[in-house]
Amino acid sequence: MTIIIDGKQVAASVIDAVKAAARALEVDAGVRTGLAVVIVGDDPASHAYVSSKSRMAKECGFISVQHTLPVETTQEQLAALVETLNRDDTIHGILVQLPLPRHLNSEPIIQAILPEKDVDGLHVVNAGKLATGDLEGGLLSCTPAGAMVFVRRTHGEDLSGLNAVVIGRSNLFGKPMAQLLLAANATVTTAHSRTKDLPAVCRNADILVAAVGRPQMVKADWVKPGATVIDVGINRVPAPDRGEGKSRLVGDVDFEDCVRVAAVITPVPGGVGPMTIAMLMANTVIAAYRSAGRKPPKF
Ligand code: GUN
Repeated sequence: MTIIIDGKQVAASVIDAVKAAARALEVDAGVRTGLAVVIVGDDPASHAYVSSKSRMAKECGFISVQHTLPVETTQEQLAALVETLNRDDTIHGILVQLPLPRHLNSEPIIQAILPEKDVDGLHVVNAGKLATGDLEGGLLSCTPAGAMVFVRRTHGEDLSGLNAVVIGRSNLFGKPMAQLLLAANATVTTAHSRTKDLPAVCRNADILVAAVGRPQMVKADWVKPGATVIDVGINRVPAPDRGEGKSRLVGDVDFEDCVRVAAVITPVPGGVGPMTIAMLMANTVIAAYRSAGRKPPKF
């Protein structure tokens, strides 16, 4: 029987632990955890994501501040806001929602966030700490951190002897995911669009992680029987069976096909997705503990 991971349930257990940690920090140190979320422009999907982040921060008992800036905001204005938030002692985490409008350059903005407040784990200092195996000192990118919770709950802390294949090499996901798997002793291959015979590379994986943005690309004959398959893709595709003009969300894995071969698999939606926001909350309370000079809990 294939195990289908319930991401909502796992995320809820992480959120419960975050709430307890935030409460304890408030009682023991008088510090209320603070998260600032910044959004520029009026992309509806980004607004939906940001609203759910702000709402979840409130639910966790955090101070939750949302800065909604107009699309004509300049690079200097956005940088000035980041500076203000960097100096604000009540804010422990800063998240600038991506993508930014095209006239803005996201990289200098991300790098202007203090590394200890970079709850997205995108600052070069945090990327560098992960790359050098310092998992305790920095902040981890939320989606790979969430995917690793599934890996740990399936295989334990030590992945010695297991082959892991990550399809995708983005800074936001593929690279940090590969490094987290490596830090847990897996033998890791990072595959991508230029990889020769991708299905054969994937068939070698005990843990297969797909993050390519190609709907249902991974088929059953790419999956080693008994493998763990983690699908990070979120693709909206037409669903005429649901009515004219209707669509549905699918992952990078052909779920119905691969569920027959894998031992453990994540669905889309309801797999990795809910974990991203849970790990953002975890990063924020971790940042608050560190700023209060306290050892943060593990999530
Ligand atoms: N846009 C889509 N995903 C993310 C994310 O994880 N962080 C930020 N800052 N923007 C995003």
